Amino acid sequence: MKSKRDSAQGNIHHRTKSNNVADAADATDALVIFGATGDLARKMIFPALYAMTKRGVLNVPVVGVAGSQWRQAQLRKQVTDSIRQAGRIDDRDALKRLLSRLRYVGGDYNDPATFTALKQALGGARRPAHYLAIPPALFATVIRGLGAAGLADQARVIVEKPFGRDLASARELNRIALSVFAEDSIFRIDHYLGKEAIMNILYFRFANSFLEPIWNRNCVASVQITLAEDFGVKGRGAFYESAGCLRDVIQNHLFQIVALLAMEPPAYQGYGAVHCEKAKVFQAMRPLLPDDVVRGQYAGYRKEPGVAKDSDVETFCALRLFIDSWRWEGVPWYLRSGKCLAATAAEVLVELKPPPQKLFDDSTPLAGRANYLRFRLSPNAAVALAARVKRAGKEFVGDQRELYLLDQQPNAETPYERLLGDAMAGDGALFTRQDAVEAAWAVLAQVLDTRHRAHRYQPGSWGPQQANALIAADGIWHNPIQEAP
Ligand code: BG6
Repeated sequence: MKSKRDSAQGNIHHRTKSNNVADAADATDALVIFGATGDLARKMIFPALYAMTKRGVLNVPVVGVAGSQWRQAQLRKQVTDSIRQAGRIDDRDALKRLLSRLRYVGGDYNDPATFTALKQALGGARRPAHYLAIPPALFATVIRGLGAAGLADQARVIVEKPFGRDLASARELNRIALSVFAEDSIFRIDHYLGKEAIMNILYFRFANSFLEPIWNRNCVASVQITLAEDFGVKGRGAFYESAGCLRDVIQNHLFQIVALLAMEPPAYQGYGAVHCEKAKVFQAMRPLLPDDVVRGQYAGYRKEPGVAKDSDVETFCALRLFIDSWRWEGVPWYLRSGKCLAATAAEVLVELKPPPQKLFDDSTPLAGRANYLRFRLSPNAAVALAARVKRAGKEFVGDQRELYLLDQQPNAETPYERLLGDAMAGDGALFTRQDAVEAAWAVLAQVLDTRHRAHRYQPGSWGPQQANALIAADGIWHNPIQEAP
């Protein structure tokens, strides 16, 4: 079922039988991974390719490209090791099939000979997909190299976030990408959009009727989103120095979650309509000012390899955001993320307003939080609705209890499996659109230039104290607990 308006950008009823048939002629016939020797390929992409091979959805040559002069056998070993590290090798035939499809091309991305060698390795492939799993500083070089070598005609390009490092660079990068690829051949990855729990936000909001009447400024007091990690930069110090938490996860992952929570209902049944509504949320976000943002840095960060001794880069960020729309006027959105925090978990808490009159002694707001809806996003997925119920006895006192929906589905595709498969099939539904990327950068424009210094915090804490002051007028942070997955 595909809406006529949406043929290029996918449909919410994604991957129906008819879509697959329609897309078959359009499918990618070779996958090229730039940055094949790198971290992202090792941790995420190779395990995803293995899972796709097991499912029988990856049947095309895979060409790894990187600066090092590796032999084919080294790439095969790297792929095998990475799959082992990610889990276990439970299908030897699938591994064999994947390894047999691998090719390797080594060379400098500035050298046209690298792209000539890639062309040879691609043989007769007509519609390759080029995945840029490389530092953002190299995107433009590789895109231009592909164009000059004639490797972009009919091809697709998959670009990892961050797409640009501010509004101007995002526009420039887009200009370069569009000079070589058509808009519907550019796939801007934000792997959060491929997570089941995040896709469920869209579904939960618009597949249920009870939510809409309360999902606005009349009933919602505030919204909090926390993405916490209990580990540090894990050897990515050099990358972090160029990014920081705001660029690494807030402008993209957390803002995408905000957009799904805040958007208006899509006007028709198609992902094009979802893209439009999400873009409007970014456009309605009030640009952040320095006082809306608290930056933190964990003690010990400056000793990480690749980090400056006097670095002021933030490994923690908390911010207060407003969406100037009819629905959300006056509702504060609190976003927070950090490394080396007390837990690894991501949650959304939508806190509702308390009842208008205090009829019972223990009514909120005096006794803790008002009713809320909680979306657990990671490491496990859950939706919980908290409401007060009376304790048995003479007194009218009660407790807030959670109605808990937990829907862990075994065998769900990982985000990279899902998104790689979609990009290869030409389905842009779960990728970010340029207008949305630009509008999100515009919200950060002032605080990327002018900001308060990062406050130190202790590893294992919930970040600097100043983050508590930021939220104080509207309550306290909700700290997600670390549960067994
Ligand atoms: C990545 C960031 O995009 O997302 C990392 O670069 C972060 O710093 C990661 O750790 C979080 O993703 P996930 O899927 O593990 O929650």
